[in-house]
Amino acid sequence: MTNKVVVGSQWGDEGKAKITDILAHDADLIIRYQGGCNAGHTVVADNKTYKFHLIPSGILYKGKTCFLGAGTVILPEAFQKEVGELIEQGIDVSGLKISPLASITMPYHTEVDGYSENTAGKGKIGTTKKGIGPTYTDKAARIGLKIGDLYNEETLNEKLDIILPLKNKQLEKVYGLQPYTKECILALCENYAKIFKPYVCFEWQELLENSSRKQILFEGAQGVMLDVDYGTYPFVTSSNPIGGGAATGSGYGPTMIDEVIGVAKAYVTRVGEGPFVTELTDETGKKIQEIGHEFGVTTGRARRCGWFDAVIMKYSVLVGGLTSIALTKADVFDTFDEIKVCTAYKDKRDGKIYKHYPTDVFMHKYLEPVYETHQGWKTDISGIREYEKLPENCRKYLERLEELLGVPVSIVSVGPDREQTIFR
Ligand code: GDP
Ligand code: IMO
Ligand code: MG
Repeated sequence: MTNKVVVGSQWGDEGKAKITDILAHDADLIIRYQGGCNAGHTVVADNKTYKFHLIPSGILYKGKTCFLGAGTVILPEAFQKEVGELIEQGIDVSGLKISPLASITMPYHTEVDGYSENTAGKGKIGTTKKGIGPTYTDKAARIGLKIGDLYNEETLNEKLDIILPLKNKQLEKVYGLQPYTKECILALCENYAKIFKPYVCFEWQELLENSSRKQILFEGAQGVMLDVDYGTYPFVTSSNPIGGGAATGSGYGPTMIDEVIGVAKAYVTRVGEGPFVTELTDETGKKIQEIGHEFGVTTGRARRCGWFDAVIMKYSVLVGGLTSIALTKADVFDTFDEIKVCTAYKDKRDGKIYKHYPTDVFMHKYLEPVYETHQGWKTDISGIREYEKLPENCRKYLERLEELLGVPVSIVSVGPDREQTIFR
């Protein structure tokens, strides 16, 4: 048994869902370990396109268990909508289970997220406004609600008597928002309890015990550079997408993990605010955006595009615990004459060279990328299924990335479809 974690190794949208879907074929249990419906995951299979936000991308296979772990945050209405859409498309969701320890995103969390974003001025993060930050804030402040609370009237009442006065004070005094009555929250919770009832897994310890000798796939959302501890803080999400997050968010410890596959695009994209040293604001950036269809699945926002950044990727290998790379979207470069790779950063003020990722992101405005240039392959690679058949310049590019990162590229993706994948 080889238990694998799929981790985004840049700023999200690397194509994790496609890779998770493929690897899920051999897995018995697929666990989403962090994040919420801020994620937008696309799987193309059998000429159909599926979009996921909360539900693990392994759900397309019949007979597998897909588990939302304790590290996730769940917006009930988003969950209901997504499950409803999957059922409409004929997908069997009977294997879907939720940890009673997962956190609930309440309406006030989305209100606070929206308010904070709209009034932050220069401090704007560019969040997805799905209430992610405020839900994790309340979890860490120990005033959050968990799925399991919905099924014990006494617990829910006791918790609300503690939470609500504090929450209402914050809502009114800090944000100028409307307070909530206990009756209103209880009515909401009654509805949430109905939504989650078929899926909540109180026997999760048995599930995990019984699965411990089976094949487990851990699915990360977002990416290492959006990690709350290691990413471009404060321009990050509020959870831990790194490989280690799979241990805290799933219910299994780190000894259950054998491999961590970092998904990376052949270039880099980012949605929202924050530093991005290799960003291209010119025609080349636009070309990548157009050919790569770089628009967000959750918010529809145009993704910022830039050249592959080996500085952040080496950092990602280190803090993300990556053991290999799944490189996606290599086909986007099929028409390019030249492709650049950033191997270091240079400080414009004094010429100082950084080979390691500088964590003070407010200083990134002084950094410029040091590039090496590769010749393009000028061939359509989307139909190629064997590594040896890739054009020489494409193989050279991939092998140079391996050399820079110190880990193998184990999967090369040459198109969105399941079939458009090369294993090495
Ligand atoms: P995720 O959030 O990491 O799962 O990625 P998204 O689904 O948000 O964005 C990745 C996009 O790229 C989706 O539209 C995928 O269908 C598409 N995609 C994935 N791999 C490839 C690839 O190798 N080539 C191309 N052209 N598109 C890909
Ligand atoms: P997937 O799983 C890309 C970004 C937002 C914003 C920051 C914080 O599809 O890769 P949040 O709503 O989480 O508080 O926003 O994180 N962000 C993502 N960017 N892909 C994602 O998910 C993202 N989830 C959050 O744009 O910059
Ligand atoms: Mg995405």
